[in-house]
Amino acid sequence: MKNSSPPFSRARWISASVVGGPRTCAPAPYLRKEFFLAHPTAKAVLSITALGLYETEINGIRVGDEVFTPGWTNYRKRVQFQQFDVTKLLHQGENAMGVILGDGWYCGFVAWRNRQIYGDQPVLLAQLEVQLRDGATVIVATDSTWKTTTGPILENDFLVGESYDARLELGRWSEAGYDDRQWGRVAAPASEPEAELSLRTGPPVRRINELMPLKPVENFPRNPERRQFDFGQNFSGRIRIKVKTSRGTTLTIRYAEILKPDGSLYTENLRSIRAADIYTAAGNGEEIWEPRFTFHGFRHVEILGPLGETDILEVTGIVLHSDTPSTGIFRCSNELLNQLQHNIVWGQKSNFIEVPTDCPQRNERLGWTGDAQVFIRTAAFNMDVRPFFHKWIQDIRDAQSPRGAVPAVIPNEEFIGQEEGGPAWSDATIICPWTIYLCYGDCKILADHYDSMKRYLDFLGSCRCQGFLRSLPETYSWTGFGDWLALDGSGNLSGGTPHDLIGTAFYAYDASIMAQVAVVLGHSLDAEKYRLLNKDIVAAFQRRYITPDGLVASGTQTAYVLALHFGLIEESKRAFAAQQLVRDIKKRGYHLATGFVGTPYLLEVLEANNYLDVAYKLLEQETFPSWLFPVKNGATTIWERWDGWTPDKGFSDPSMNSFNHYAYGAVGAWMYRSVAGLELDPAEPGYRHIIFRPRPGGSISWAEASLKTAYGVVALSWKLAGAALEITFTVPNGCHATFIPAPEYQVEKTDFSEGTHKLTACKR
Ligand code: BGC
Repeated sequence: MKNSSPPFSRARWISASVVGGPRTCAPAPYLRKEFFLAHPTAKAVLSITALGLYETEINGIRVGDEVFTPGWTNYRKRVQFQQFDVTKLLHQGENAMGVILGDGWYCGFVAWRNRQIYGDQPVLLAQLEVQLRDGATVIVATDSTWKTTTGPILENDFLVGESYDARLELGRWSEAGYDDRQWGRVAAPASEPEAELSLRTGPPVRRINELMPLKPVENFPRNPERRQFDFGQNFSGRIRIKVKTSRGTTLTIRYAEILKPDGSLYTENLRSIRAADIYTAAGNGEEIWEPRFTFHGFRHVEILGPLGETDILEVTGIVLHSDTPSTGIFRCSNELLNQLQHNIVWGQKSNFIEVPTDCPQRNERLGWTGDAQVFIRTAAFNMDVRPFFHKWIQDIRDAQSPRGAVPAVIPNEEFIGQEEGGPAWSDATIICPWTIYLCYGDCKILADHYDSMKRYLDFLGSCRCQGFLRSLPETYSWTGFGDWLALDGSGNLSGGTPHDLIGTAFYAYDASIMAQVAVVLGHSLDAEKYRLLNKDIVAAFQRRYITPDGLVASGTQTAYVLALHFGLIEESKRAFAAQQLVRDIKKRGYHLATGFVGTPYLLEVLEANNYLDVAYKLLEQETFPSWLFPVKNGATTIWERWDGWTPDKGFSDPSMNSFNHYAYGAVGAWMYRSVAGLELDPAEPGYRHIIFRPRPGGSISWAEASLKTAYGVVALSWKLAGAALEITFTVPNGCHATFIPAPEYQVEKTDFSEGTHKLTACKR
């Protein structure tokens, strides 16, 4: 919908006159309008959006509780709007509406680029429709009669931070009767934005909860100008402070994920962004402040300023993320794995902010497709991410190039400047909708996205492949990111798992998914076409990468994992190939060497090929590199790299060293599916048919998982009791379940209907 149609029939885009520069922030504009209602209100709906960010007040009261509205999309193509029922905020007589605009993704710094990627200043579009009790309708819409000024927010930016001068507060600026004679007139943007306006579909970002510092830390170093606070948890958000100090005192709040050995903040990995908020006090007794249009990724905070003359009364951590309600619980007898699960959940919280981002702290925070596709299955256990991915998959459609390519980051390709994201990254186009379908039984996402998936696969075939081999280095200069951050030389252009092997493996996987999607949607001709395509790709893969004995080219763990997981290797060679994988793992003292691409399937492949014991050795491995190595070293989120910090080398390369990246947290799905044993059936997705299949192993003596599904809560717990396994599980109404014991166990009954069941599995 374009503006000028309902619900914006009368509204015009308006802006203030303040404009920043490519590297300079500008103060946040405040805009206001008074209006008269002759009768009480029966119903009032505010439709509102901005290019930039907005927060609205009516008669002095904040409208809604959403943060960073209208959210992040490719603003050249689509801008979301929100609708709020504001009936209760209005009254008969004089009323006022006020809006504060922030820079956000639209004109603030994004990633490593300058500011103003989409436009040079924020603009607003709003229309309030009031039905009065006498039947009349009053419309208040943005137009040239609105007034504007600037106030206490001197700069606001996701990467820079926010600066606020409380001496410049505007008082009751969003209430009627306010003296705005000094305010100026709003301007109209030079040209009307062309983007499509669509009602928000995904969940908004909200202030989800509050954290208190573990304890007020001693001044560090013994210096009255610096105090540190540790929230005990790495997270995304900001802090609220309550202070008492003299007028004009300026406090600077710095943020960091981790401390250096000397106890000071480690900020080198933020890559040169300021990431600090600055507060100047009004000096009116106790003052409370929380920034409005920024967030940081952090665990530690340092407040700098003349603290000798300042009382810091409270420091509260405000956790911000897209409101994706929690759905899953996983617990087991190994406390380190429980901490790993905690870290996975917090990695998810910290990075599900409007789009699934790679990390929340440095100058990046982008919707990397590769990261999202490896993690989506785990994400769908932990939280209800269905609406979140509906929105982001729409963003993928918006970002797709005319010839079908999908970039590495969504919603915008221009941060990277590459039309196509490369193997395992742009394949999110096919993997993500399919996963949402499996986990939620959601056919709509497949139907909505089907054309885009087809166009993507056609693009790969015609523009990125030769003889069914994808991303051949001899033909294409861009071959993708490889097995990113693997410890075997992958991710470099030489060494490690060849990019074309990864490319061809994912091409085959895409085709096999598409064959299944076509069946679900009833496109039988397409289904046959994609089955044949998959066969051709598999044959090409085997010719180029698999020896007659079953060795896989390059011999990396990831090469074997992909060949085995995506069905690329002949049945007769599987056992030999799996042996090679295990040989490499053992050679490394039961350590993995996989990167972003191989890690998500590693344990599944080991389990499927009769190496459950090896899978558990890797899962419970505590020494570097492993999932539990960061846990043993105090991590509260998932690290970007296996070697983010090691005792011998200290911090890894600061230009790529986030301590809050969810990708390696993709192991979470295996903990739910195999350690606890909660699995879905693709034939009856969304857990209508539940497969209970615990695979006890390692040191684990009990495990449990539960999941809120559309049908109700599915739950499972098991414990070892001598040679037996005692299991309790719940099947919600409308569902049925099959219990599949591990090969060494047998049970008397395998099929179950709704209700809670107890079962004992005995060793054969
Ligand atoms: C990001 C990753 C991303 C990668 C592409 C990095 O800068 O942080 O998570 O997938 O680039 O290889």
